[in-house]
Amino acid sequence: MPAGVPISLDRINRELWRRQQGYGRGGRMKIETDRVEVVAGVRHSQTIGSPIALIIRNSDWQNWTAALPVEDGEGAEDKKKPVRRPRPGHADLAGCIKYNFHDARYILERASARETTARVAVGAIAKAFLAEFNISVLSHVVAVGPVTLKREVTWEEIVELSKRDKVLLGCVDAETERQMKEVVDEVYRTGDTAGGVFEVVVHGAPPGLGSHRTWDSRLDGRFAQAIVSIQAVKGVEVGRAAQGAASFGSSVQDTIHYDRTTRHFLRGANRAGGIEGGMTNGEDIVIRGLLKPISTLRRPLESVDLLTREPSSAAYERSDVCVVPAAGVIGEAMAAIVLAQAFLEKFGGDSLGETRRNFEGYMEQVKNF
Ligand SMILES: Cc1cc2nc3c(=O)[nH]c(=O)nc-3n(C[C@H](O)[C@H](O)[C@H](O)COP(=O)(O)O)c2cc1C
Repeated sequence: MPAGVPISLDRINRELWRRQQGYGRGGRMKIETDRVEVVAGVRHSQTIGSPIALIIRNSDWQNWTAALPVEDGEGAEDKKKPVRRPRPGHADLAGCIKYNFHDARYILERASARETTARVAVGAIAKAFLAEFNISVLSHVVAVGPVTLKREVTWEEIVELSKRDKVLLGCVDAETERQMKEVVDEVYRTGDTAGGVFEVVVHGAPPGLGSHRTWDSRLDGRFAQAIVSIQAVKGVEVGRAAQGAASFGSSVQDTIHYDRTTRHFLRGANRAGGIEGGMTNGEDIVIRGLLKPISTLRRPLESVDLLTREPSSAAYERSDVCVVPAAGVIGEAMAAIVLAQAFLEKFGGDSLGETRRNFEGYMEQVKNF
């Protein structure tokens, strides 16, 4: 991160708070109130060009010191709370086989989306950097279980949504959100869980970030990796990919037009989601993440005891039942991290001023293209 980027702890904490919200969260989020401590890289409210180090403490850690001590002392065996009945859909079984344990407790906390707290804090710093160039990254929820938002959404609606101090299911449409809540109420009642779809929108990105040159510089691929790396996200959509796959080319590609007065290229629509040939094209970047339902069910699924190998119901650990709005906030962070990286690859700079000069020079070139 270049030096001179303004950093506000309140802003980072607000993002951490947003990650903890949403109807459908479980007991852990009642224990944790995430606050960031910056231990390196920021002085007098700005980055200084050195690596930035952040700490977010887990309050729940204290409750596990007896069950999971660092050293194996006297009586440690009796205090263990082993997880021997792996939960389908979790890292439990694959992790135990891979690391050769018969206790999924060692696997599940590291695999948990608790880790995404750090991603959101880092994402807040990436967002602060991007904001210096008038680029904003936000999200909203477009589906919970079978309930789907049926209309288009404006950027202004997403901005308003992000300012709310009470988060229900992160949908801009009140009636759809009410129906989404009914889905979550139903899974609370039946001991089941629900998934859904969030949409991340990047507003204000210049054309030309990322590249068509090589497979690993294509920005759509980089976003896809970042979004699918979020726990429980099993699919990603760039623009209106699913709709496009079921349509003919004549109704999918975004036509190109030119306004001679403003000397700007214009597009007939933004079904491509702001990326063509692995590069930003100047339109809003639109990426969706598709979440499977949470794997831990109060009404557990079939599993096998790791020691006896007998059929056994999967373990139940305190759990969320629906996390789509929170996953959207994590999606924003991942998109901001990827975009800030692509931005710095193109414009470089050790200080914000240097990055800005390079950016403005390029934007002048774009204006006169
Ligand atoms: C914000 C968030 C919170 C989550 N909370 C839980 C939870 O409380 N219980 C659970 O079983 N899974 C939860 N998950 C999903 C699991 O972490 C995830 O399904 C698991 O680690 C296996 O990884 P995979 O689904 O990506 O294969 C959560 C995911 C996210 C994004």
